[in-house]
Amino acid sequence: MTSRSASLEIEARTIKDSRGDATVEVEVEIAGRTLSASVPAGKTKGGDEAVTVPAAKAVETIHDVILPIVRQLDVDLATHAGLIELERTLVERAGVRCESFGANALLPVSIALWRCAAAVHGLQLYEYIRAQEPELASTGRVRLFSNVLNGGYHALQTGEQLGVDRFDLQEMQIVPQSAPSYREALAMAERVDTALAELLATRFGADRMRRADEAGLSVKGLADNGEALDLLVEAISLAGFTPGVDIKITIDPASSHLYDAATERYRIGAQRLSPGQYGEYLLALLDRHAARFPNLFESVEDPLQENDWSGLEALSSEIKKRGVIVVGDDFYVTQRDRLEKGIAAGSANGLLVKPNQNGSLYGTLEVMKLARRHGIALVISHRSGETLDSTIADLAIAVGAHGIKTGAPQPERVFPGRHTWFRRTKYLRMIAIDESEREGG
Ligand code: PGA
Ligand code: ZN
Repeated sequence: MTSRSASLEIEARTIKDSRGDATVEVEVEIAGRTLSASVPAGKTKGGDEAVTVPAAKAVETIHDVILPIVRQLDVDLATHAGLIELERTLVERAGVRCESFGANALLPVSIALWRCAAAVHGLQLYEYIRAQEPELASTGRVRLFSNVLNGGYHALQTGEQLGVDRFDLQEMQIVPQSAPSYREALAMAERVDTALAELLATRFGADRMRRADEAGLSVKGLADNGEALDLLVEAISLAGFTPGVDIKITIDPASSHLYDAATERYRIGAQRLSPGQYGEYLLALLDRHAARFPNLFESVEDPLQENDWSGLEALSSEIKKRGVIVVGDDFYVTQRDRLEKGIAAGSANGLLVKPNQNGSLYGTLEVMKLARRHGIALVISHRSGETLDSTIADLAIAVGAHGIKTGAPQPERVFPGRHTWFRRTKYLRMIAIDESEREGG
């Protein structure tokens, strides 16, 4: 079973992502098999993420720089050591933040190489990761984090203002708790999505509603974060579920993007809050329904701007007291050095895992291992500009992640064409893996 990388072909091209922006897709051919991968793009990015280059430049780098390195190394992809040697060399040449290649050049190649190695072993990607990375392998159930109600910059339209036209916090997600399978968890999320769409249409008028970047609902004129949360809680009840029991809520304020470094204030509606006041504001939001639904929240992501480490430590301890996980996205940017800093400070106890913040699947798995060793919950995540690539579903299932965050469920009646299912492909992949495992297949 020898498949050496010297005989490998890589074809890279630009494709359109869910926002219609150019991104990169690669096809790797080895021993008669063709495996593909494509890379998503963030909008409200962490400042310290791996570097991204223009898509056309990434395609050029793949053909002119990465492919020659792969061929020259000529590793045996039939051994995991061969794949790791190749990945390590590529990561070393790329630089810590992928400065030399761009993460959007390296990551799709990296994923396709892992797919090749899996195929050489006759395995699917999740099976291969499970088999080869025992430190991470787990069959734990993954929670679906469905981003159904959107504010912030993912919702804002040209000429609009946050806190006036759309609420400030970027994401309000639902996390089904009581479903026995991913199919049923997705069905629960869809019921809430439908109930919320009806509720918002009745209150605000259907003509004011749209689907934001991650397919969640957004309404022009729903500008208050508290009111948005109230409506989501109501929709969960209207769908027949008990908030905080059947379905929990997660918020991602994307705080870095509400923060003005010049004035050191956070923008919430017309208010300009100091870091302390902003933390209090978020805690009050967490407590808003506590009397009726004491365990309403699953987690909060990036509760402060990404460089306020001491603030994060203090606020996290308040949030954790409420039994709510603090997830670091812009704080950790799926990078070892930043996660180490958070671990030392004892701050966020959840890691949002975005492979393109890191640049390679190898590097991403290494950061995940570090998190696991410190009991940090893993939430595998899409980006706001997505492709139809469903790698994150394989990754989540392989490691039995705490959760997978992949936008609104995109019910078929609302998003009829398969080519529009940027989020749904991930859910369907979760279901497909789940059901094939149950059948023992
Ligand atoms: P991004 O947003 O993909 O635009 O960075 C997602 C998030 O903040 O979690
Ligand atoms: Zn985030």
